[in-house]
Amino acid sequence: MLSAQERAHVAQVWDLIAGHEAAFGAELLLRLFTVYPSTKTYFKHLGVCPDETQLLTHGRRMLEAVGVAVRHFDHLRAALSPLADLHAQVLRVDPSNFPPLIQCFQVVLASHLQDEFTVEMHAAWDKFLTHVAIVLTEKYR
Ligand code: HEM
Repeated sequence: MLSAQERAHVAQVWDLIAGHEAAFGAELLLRLFTVYPSTKTYFKHLGVCPDETQLLTHGRRMLEAVGVAVRHFDHLRAALSPLADLHAQVLRVDPSNFPPLIQCFQVVLASHLQDEFTVEMHAAWDKFLTHVAIVLTEKYR
């Protein structure tokens, strides 16, 4: 669970991202596919060099879902249930792909927010995204 302080840090970071979901999400995907090419195997339909429109569209959807998680942190399982079914049962995304995504997310945040992205925010955001990943992958069991 996240402490009240950690929740406040997560909310603060989200306030800095909100409104830029497509741009941040596209950069996150580009970093993920480039640094961890095996993740791209789940996105064959995006082509070898996914164009910007495709990245922006999927990036926006992904970050909007993160926004839902921020707003519904106390009811994460219910809020993300359809998305958890999709990733576990339909897409069958291997859970080992989530830590690389979290790492790329942190790099995107650090590169954009720079000094605003404090050590405490980094730690809280890592904990928060790990919870999201747990909820999205636990339906494998
Ligand atoms: C689809 C969110 C992690 C692979 C989606 C969608 C959302 C989403 C919102 C669209 C659902 C829809 O269209 O109804 C997230 C979030 C993640 C995450 C919040 C983690 C924080 C991952 C990971 C992978 C992955 C790690 C694999 C490397 C996919 C694929 C689709 C998808 C292949 C379908 C894309 C399409 O149909 O165009 N995800 N996802 N996701 N996700 Fe994720």
